[in-house]
Amino acid sequence: MATLLTGSTGYIGAHIASNLLADHAEPLNVLVRARDSEEARGRLWRSLQLHMDFQRFDDFYHSRIRVFRGDLTDSRFGLADDEYSALVRSTNSIIHCAASLNRKSEKSCLNVNLRGTLEVIQLAMRARDNHGLRRFSHVSTVAVAGHRANEVVEEDSAIDWNRSDYDPYARTKKFCEHMLRQLLPDVPRTIFRPSIVLGDSRRPETNQFEMVRAFVFLAGLPVLPFRSTDKVDIVPVDYVAGAISTLHQKEKPAHEIYHLSSGTRSETFVQLTDALAKAQDKRGPKYVPGLEGTTSKVINALAGRAGKVGGLATLLKVFLPYLVWNTVFDNRRVVAEMGASPAPFSKYCYPLLRFSREKNFSYPYKDLPGTAAVSAAAAAREARR
Ligand SMILES: NC(=O)c1ccc[n+]([C@@H]2O[C@H](COP(=O)([O-])OP(=O)(O)OC[C@H]3O[C@@H](n4cnc5c(N)ncnc54)[C@H](OP(=O)(O)O)[C@@H]3O)[C@@H](O)[C@H]2O)c1
Repeated sequence: MATLLTGSTGYIGAHIASNLLADHAEPLNVLVRARDSEEARGRLWRSLQLHMDFQRFDDFYHSRIRVFRGDLTDSRFGLADDEYSALVRSTNSIIHCAASLNRKSEKSCLNVNLRGTLEVIQLAMRARDNHGLRRFSHVSTVAVAGHRANEVVEEDSAIDWNRSDYDPYARTKKFCEHMLRQLLPDVPRTIFRPSIVLGDSRRPETNQFEMVRAFVFLAGLPVLPFRSTDKVDIVPVDYVAGAISTLHQKEKPAHEIYHLSSGTRSETFVQLTDALAKAQDKRGPKYVPGLEGTTSKVINALAGRAGKVGGLATLLKVFLPYLVWNTVFDNRRVVAEMGASPAPFSKYCYPLLRFSREKNFSYPYKDLPGTAAVSAAAAAREARR
């Protein structure tokens, strides 16, 4: 019997896939968007090459991985009846990691996060009724906590239906958790809520650059419109994926919900900029919190415009609320169960910054041996996203 992982071509999903393949023996069903099996293989290689060489990938691909070419937004993922039924019959646990993180698009969040999660839940019900489901793990987000200011939020009180949300992403992810509880009351569930996932504490390489781009831009400014002692809850992807793959495999995790975050040990802006300044032998920025209002006005005015500046402003516009809310997410549950805390961002932020600048915010992907066309198709798909 296999674990079904959605989102294996994404940043966190590929880290989870790599852990499951390396540390556990069971087969892995993956749902991948692709027109044909060669494109699917190429897209998986693209996401997994950060974690393994081609030989190892190829071995896993032929021995442990079964690809279901499907889309969350299609009924039964758009699979033919025999494929869908094979997916139901072979799946005995699910890690649902796929999502739309497009904070600006109500439509995309509605379709991928709500309709897509409902499809995954329906698959879970069919597997449960067919042979039983060991566990359903759902990758959510701390953003479900809605508007907050100067708080330490605990898992069980994070969702408050009377609070407003920052964006459609947060709103739809909040409802996904609700659907899961309502529709699968009898299935063991785990809900993982990562905070801002940025970089890998084990190495400088990354293939996700969206947040890194915002971070590198802010890190280069001489003046920052923030309060220097505000905390920002950042967690490395290796900690997040390690916790998800370990706790999902546990027979009885101690809790249903886990914040995968840095919690009260989150660092302040000034701790981070001091670490960066020291690493580069430079002076740190000046903090002028009074500029926050003007900065958001400028960002709002530039967001949506064409070109690099418009793109950066759009990015900052969606992330700004999460940078200035001075809110952290209590992580005592995961730290107790994993026996370790996440590495502090100050310890690995400079290598991440240097790698991203040197590579001009793009990962030097290797093609599948002999198939440049697959990578061109994957690049075209990424550009359309
Ligand atoms: N990154 C963070 O800072 C962060 C923080 C908190 C929570 N999270 C949560 O972590 C999870 C993974 O995030 P990530 O950063 O790894 O995102 P990501 O790199 O954008 O990956 C998203 C994954 O979802 C898949 N997906 C999207 N739409 C789909 C569809 N219609 N059908 C099938 N698959 C679809 C993508 O497939 P394609 O490759 O085909 O697009 C990709 O594999 C999400 O649930 C997110 O809410 C992330």
